[in-house]
Amino acid sequence: NDTAVIAVDGPSGSGKGTICRLLARELNWHLLDSGALYRLTALAARHHGVELDDVEALEVLAAHLDVSFKPQEDGETQVVLEGEEVTHTIRNERVGKDASVVAALGPVRDALLSRQRDFAHAPGLVADGRDMGTVVFPEAKLKIYLDASAEERAQRRYKQLISKEPGASLDDILSDIKARDDRDMNRAVAPLKPAPDAVRLDTTSMSIEDVLQSVLDEARHRG
Ligand code: C5P
Repeated sequence: NDTAVIAVDGPSGSGKGTICRLLARELNWHLLDSGALYRLTALAARHHGVELDDVEALEVLAAHLDVSFKPQEDGETQVVLEGEEVTHTIRNERVGKDASVVAALGPVRDALLSRQRDFAHAPGLVADGRDMGTVVFPEAKLKIYLDASAEERAQRRYKQLISKEPGASLDDILSDIKARDDRDMNRAVAPLKPAPDAVRLDTTSMSIEDVLQSVLDEARHRG
């Protein structure tokens, strides 16, 4: 498969999700939200009463995940798991935390590998994750590693959350982010790290527009 891929990796809150969505829309390319697959595996485990340390059962769940991604008119993607709409459910903090636990298991990652690669179709794919440039699409024509300080990422999450959860605490969010970073960066399989040939962008004091422009410039630069 020689489809053009832009691989975007980075920690949670680095702005990856937003940038990838805008990038895919701008280029008219497909979008892979790989984190959603780990979130869906975690949610399916919850639904089926599978414990998060039952590696064999989790591997089976990941391999047979019955999921569909349906693009909506408004540009959002509706996510359906086993016939149930879970678009918003998979975004909650508990599912995110569970996702980073199942994502540390090698057999689960392997089970999701071909499903991720199947997203690569002409005219191109924007792939959002933690190991897009290092493991899933090592041949990507452009690899981006987005980062921002943990404090800035916590602030961003806090601003998103506060309208929905008036009781949200910045300190709690910051410690969750640090715990998630620790799990994602220090796990044995496919840890979060920049590919050696990745373009690294620190977005701490950049606007979304600036980040998008920088990535588009890199993409055009490479043809
Ligand atoms: O990006 P998102 O927050 O949706 O990802 C949820 C979790 O899934 C991450 O914290 C990480 O542990 C895991 N993940 C991963 N590899 C990816 C994408 C996500 O390990 N490519």
